[in-house]
Amino acid sequence: MALLSVLTPVLAVVLCLLIGFMLVKSREPGTTTSPSVGETKAGSKAEFRPWVDQDLQDNTEITANEKENRDWVESNDEDLPHVPYSPLRYPVETVLKRSQDFYTLMNQRRSVRFISPEPVPQEVIDNIIHTAGTAPSGAHTEPWTFVVVSDPEMKHRIRLIVEEEEKVNYHQRMGEKWVHDLAKLRTNWIKEYLDVAPYLVLIFKQTYGILPNGKKKTHYYNEISVSISCGILLAALQNAGLVTVTTTPLNCGPQLRLLLKRPANEKLLMLLPVGYPASDAIVPDLKRKALGDIMVHI
Ligand SMILES: Cc1cc2nc3c(=O)[nH]c(=O)nc-3n(C[C@H](O)[C@H](O)[C@H](O)COP(=O)(O)O)c2cc1C
Repeated sequence: MALLSVLTPVLAVVLCLLIGFMLVKSREPGTTTSPSVGETKAGSKAEFRPWVDQDLQDNTEITANEKENRDWVESNDEDLPHVPYSPLRYPVETVLKRSQDFYTLMNQRRSVRFISPEPVPQEVIDNIIHTAGTAPSGAHTEPWTFVVVSDPEMKHRIRLIVEEEEKVNYHQRMGEKWVHDLAKLRTNWIKEYLDVAPYLVLIFKQTYGILPNGKKKTHYYNEISVSISCGILLAALQNAGLVTVTTTPLNCGPQLRLLLKRPANEKLLMLLPVGYPASDAIVPDLKRKALGDIMVHI
């Protein structure tokens, strides 16, 4: 009993030290108190996020220190004039019909992995890229570059890079679950469409802008902005009767950027093979969620 009363304060001190130590550790950067996606419940700290492209940081690049600040510019558009905006206004029946027709058109869009080699006029692609460039962007920075490749030799070099990386992705990086989830789509690392499609459109996000005087300009929300423009591009392709398959070739960005001689501020976001569908094209028989499953009306 006497021994217990002597030990109790000692135990209390040890317990306090232990709790204090755990609190300090939990605040250290890179450690979390609850397991995050990819972490095991056993508390393994090794982050396993195979779907995150190593090259594709999502953050808007922000000036880091005093010296770097001198390389960046502020916007000087304060005096931008504002002009009247009065687009066509349709009668309500027309609004309804147009909304229905557009849904019908877009609901026919499918990711097509079998593309015809038939030529498509360059002017059509110009119009489609022009349309993608109408997307909204953070602070109107328009942080996108669309590289259109039709040269057969260049398409083949792109294919070699993508297939080499995709083979590693499927065998090592993606993990069993991801490969299993993709099995129903019958995709693999062989990408014949990269040779066959008349055009490959590689969409780069500019993580910051570079002005003619060499100064850097912040590109706010560049990834969201470029993703919106990709959505508009997909809609424009569908409208023209062309097809593509949205691809995000994991960890191919740096090699493709060098191959296409793009500057270091550009990161590959998407690669779209574009053309008419092959006459024997097939697609997985997928169903889309009903309106009630995707919309909450309050
Ligand atoms: C961000 C993103 C990445 C994708 N990456 C690939 C890809 O690498 N390879 C592929 O064959 N399909 C890819 N897809 C296409 C999807 O598999 C496809 O959109 C999905 O199965 C639904 O089919 P649907 O587009 O015909 O409606 C991707 C789609 C998105 C939105």
